Amino acid sequence: MDKKVAELLNDQVNKELYSAYLYLDMANFYANQGLDGFANWYEIQAKEEQDHAMLIYKYLHNNDQTVTLGAIAKPDKEYKELMDPLKAAHAHEQYVTGLINAIYDAALEAKDHRTVQFLDWFVKEQGEEEVNSSGMVRKMELFGGDAKALYMLNSELAGRTYSAPSLKL
Ligand code: FEO
Repeated sequence: MDKKVAELLNDQVNKELYSAYLYLDMANFYANQGLDGFANWYEIQAKEEQDHAMLIYKYLHNNDQTVTLGAIAKPDKEYKELMDPLKAAHAHEQYVTGLINAIYDAALEAKDHRTVQFLDWFVKEQGEEEVNSSGMVRKMELFGGDAKALYMLNSELAGRTYSAPSLKL
């Protein structure tokens, strides 16, 4: 595998684990606010990020690459309003889309078609992640100001269940 592509994928393992930690921190914020549905949403989001990390980890091993695990940064965002994590989550997903696109570009440049094909799943996944994260912001804008509507939104989010990624390695 091209050295730069392998390095970027290795870094992405860390970035996905950081994403999991960031979302767990958001779950923690909402749990502290008594919003168990929002907390559930972000707990599941954290699990999905761990899955993303493991998919890349396994892909690297399947391609005879050495994986180096680095320190995972502390989630250091401060949340005051109920909207704050939702906006931070959307901005974070846009950032991750940029990271995936950069690895995709490097793989294309290296003519590493296998990695391009592997990353296709992540490109699609990022599209879904951004739809979900912007949808959460929109819902809070519409309903967050009304206690009854917030209660119902929290109940809706409590119904999210975990499902394993559709990509299998
Ligand atoms: Fe791993 Fe939320 O993208």
